[in-house]
Amino acid sequence: MTRSLVRVGVIGAGNMGQAYTRVLRQSDLRFRAEVVAVCDQDLARARQLAGPQAGAWDDVAQMLAEQELDWVYQATPDHAHKEPFLALMAAGVPTLVEKPLATTLEDALAMSEAASRAGVQAQVNFTNRINPAFVQAKAAVEAGQVGRPLGVYARLSNVFTYPKENLSWAARSSVAWFLISHTADLAAWLTGWRATSVLAHGVKGKLAQLGVDTWDLIQALVTYEDGGSALLEASWTLPASMPSIVDFEFVVHGDDGQIAVDTTRQMVTVAGPAKYAYPGTLGWTQRQISDSLDRLEAPAGGDPLGDGLANTALLVALHDSLRSGRPEPVREF
Ligand SMILES: NC(=O)c1ccc[n+]([C@@H]2O[C@H](COP(=O)([O-])OP(=O)(O)OC[C@H]3O[C@@H](n4cnc5c(N)ncnc54)[C@H](O)[C@@H]3O)[C@@H](O)[C@H]2O)c1
Repeated sequence: MTRSLVRVGVIGAGNMGQAYTRVLRQSDLRFRAEVVAVCDQDLARARQLAGPQAGAWDDVAQMLAEQELDWVYQATPDHAHKEPFLALMAAGVPTLVEKPLATTLEDALAMSEAASRAGVQAQVNFTNRINPAFVQAKAAVEAGQVGRPLGVYARLSNVFTYPKENLSWAARSSVAWFLISHTADLAAWLTGWRATSVLAHGVKGKLAQLGVDTWDLIQALVTYEDGGSALLEASWTLPASMPSIVDFEFVVHGDDGQIAVDTTRQMVTVAGPAKYAYPGTLGWTQRQISDSLDRLEAPAGGDPLGDGLANTALLVALHDSLRSGRPEPVREF
């Protein structure tokens, strides 16, 4: 029996929408799924990504009324996740929505409730859970290879040109929403801990001078109900000369060992006459999409966005602490 292709919609035709569409069209996933619809509030952008093979819309509700979809990848800016997502849940379309779930607790709660009500597969794209390095780290923690986790240290940063040139909405987000969302999720996922409070400090200057009014660097100390702690650091100020746009180091301290992940160098260096680079070798987007498509076969239900909601709650407390200068409690749900 020939199985028909999964009909995929992409909402947000920017950096991520383009990258995921490319993987869907160029990898083996093309034998499993087909991008049939692209929606972006900028219709020209949607049309360009859709090409001749797919329809293009600038309105999510209209797209959903005119095109049947089996699965949607939603990659709108950090602050603009709620509206498209609620429309998708109301239409009962399984969705992979980008991290962070939302940048306010109100948005995150509305999205989480809508996903539970809809009873379809809904997932926040915490891609590092599929990153091979963290899959190994998780297995090591679960096998007790480092004993009981005591604490986490993580550093995840970007070159300053990334927020300045690639994220037109960087000033409406922050390096914490954009990057600590990943490391905070990894800390919770690897240890099973629930965050109770955050003390954060941030520095502004370089990006503000360049016209992007947001934090350059944020350092946060998170404490968890189990007594553990995490030091999560992220900067958007790395020099453009870096061989990679990302610098990423992650350590789990156990009472009988340590796990250290360093993905920055990607195992290969290429030194050309003008550029020294770490070409990406740990790409896992195809696996992420494949995993989401597998879930379409599984029954949905429960609280699919619970981890996304917890992540937003932690990051809301972190931003409260940046303003107050004091430790702030993380709301529990
Ligand atoms: N999982 C990861 O590893 C990872 C990596 C990078 C970015 N992200 C996340 O992906 C998301 C998108 O980032 P990006 O770099 O692609 O941003 P981008 O600015 O390049 O693209 C966003 C697109 O969404 C469109 N848009 C905005 N509101 C819309 C709406 N209501 N309906 C339809 N289209 C709308 C914009 O016009 C734009 O084209 C962000 O939440 C970001 O944090 C995730």
